[in-house]
Amino acid sequence: MLIKEIIDLDKEKKDVVVQGWVRTRRDSKGFSFIELNDGSCLKNLQVVIDHSIISAAHLKKITTGSSIKVKGDIVESPGKGQKWELMGREVFILGEADPNKYPLQKKRHSDEFLRQIAHLRVRTNKYGAINRIRSTVSYIIHNFLQERDFFYIHTPIITSSDCEGAGDLFQVIKKGEKKDSFFKKDAYLTVSGQLTAEAICLGLGRVYTFGPTFRAEDSNTPRHAAEFWMVEPEMAFFDLNDDMDLAEELIKYVVKTTLKQRAEDIELFSKFLDKGLFSRLEKLINEPFVRIEYTEAINILEKAEKKMGFQFKPKWGEDLQTEHERYLTEKYFNGPVVVYNYPKEIKPFYMRLNDDGKTVAAMDILLPKIGEVVGGSQREERFDVLVKNMERLEMKIQDYEWYLDLRRYGTVKHSGFGLGFDRLIMFLTGVSNIRDVIPFPRTPGTLNF
Ligand code: 4AD
Ligand code: MG
Repeated sequence: MLIKEIIDLDKEKKDVVVQGWVRTRRDSKGFSFIELNDGSCLKNLQVVIDHSIISAAHLKKITTGSSIKVKGDIVESPGKGQKWELMGREVFILGEADPNKYPLQKKRHSDEFLRQIAHLRVRTNKYGAINRIRSTVSYIIHNFLQERDFFYIHTPIITSSDCEGAGDLFQVIKKGEKKDSFFKKDAYLTVSGQLTAEAICLGLGRVYTFGPTFRAEDSNTPRHAAEFWMVEPEMAFFDLNDDMDLAEELIKYVVKTTLKQRAEDIELFSKFLDKGLFSRLEKLINEPFVRIEYTEAINILEKAEKKMGFQFKPKWGEDLQTEHERYLTEKYFNGPVVVYNYPKEIKPFYMRLNDDGKTVAAMDILLPKIGEVVGGSQREERFDVLVKNMERLEMKIQDYEWYLDLRRYGTVKHSGFGLGFDRLIMFLTGVSNIRDVIPFPRTPGTLNF
């Protein structure tokens, strides 16, 4: 049985077999008490071992980190803190863990230390919870979109185009070769599945891609990873407002449902890591996101600049810095903020030009403590405007003929966005470093495991 199933039992149960990893063993007169965890939930199962069923030599091998299998009966626990315990009848040691060497002893370890043993840290409460939350949130996202008639599509990981035009690409070459002998052209790991998702969207109507994306940004920040997961819905006949509505609804649904389905795991973070977590999550669910145009955001920031000063002066035509995002979400509005209609110069080629000729129909969703969690836009569906834009950016138009076909043949208004999955997990847990929400993070200078 899984420990999760045992915890949910409503009556005692005989002849049960449980397997897992030992968190601690405590010996008292005649008995030993083992805290056993099998990963199925946060809680441990208390296993009671009568010393008459085990030799002293055997018992000594049941140490923190070892794996065991226990046969016995689930009975009501007279002790505090748990409803059920397992009265062991037979104990098998599956794998020992030398207590002089096993690095995860029963004490608090720093995040930095645990990153070095990322292959073992999943056996702690915190990292077990994070991995369970990641799984549940993925499932919730699929559910949300599938219930709304979105099709899950698979976009390529190896690509020849730089969707975002930022140039932060990892190149793919065959091992041992210096040049692109395999594809006979430059190949990269994708920064976004958007462009090919657009193509499928303009045949299926509502689609989403959900996979790993890669960016060779040299930004060593707590919010950037070189490999991260992104959910990218793309919707035919949606304008920018529809796009913002859907993104807001999705985020709210994920937070609300995760609070229900992973209550125990989220509680761990609110108890030990971030006391304000629940109120932030509740606030997000219950209040509409503030929506402001980029120009208004700059106005607010310029006023704040005069009062308190920023490291970077806010200026129309430039990107918002982290400190600006934090001011808007944590001080000025105290909640999620959607900023839309950005200057065209700071956004990629595919975004739809607004009638003012200066801004594009882009939107970013900013969250307190996290900053940007969503980036999206209405797409430029007008062939001529799109080509002009590509020319302005000096793009190689012949490489994008297939993309232009989407505007040549049966073009329609459409929109989409990318939701940074790992940043969403940071928001849900209050964990402040992206390296601690990704099982095996990849960042500049680190490629372990
Ligand atoms: O804003 P971005 O660059 O948008 C796109 O890639 C669009 N093509 C998406 C679309 O419209 N289909 O990235 C989207 C989100 C960001 O808001 C952020 O949450 C996350 O992806 N993100 C990162 N997360 C972790 N590490 C990084 N280096 C990230 N770069 C972007
Ligand atoms: Mg962005």
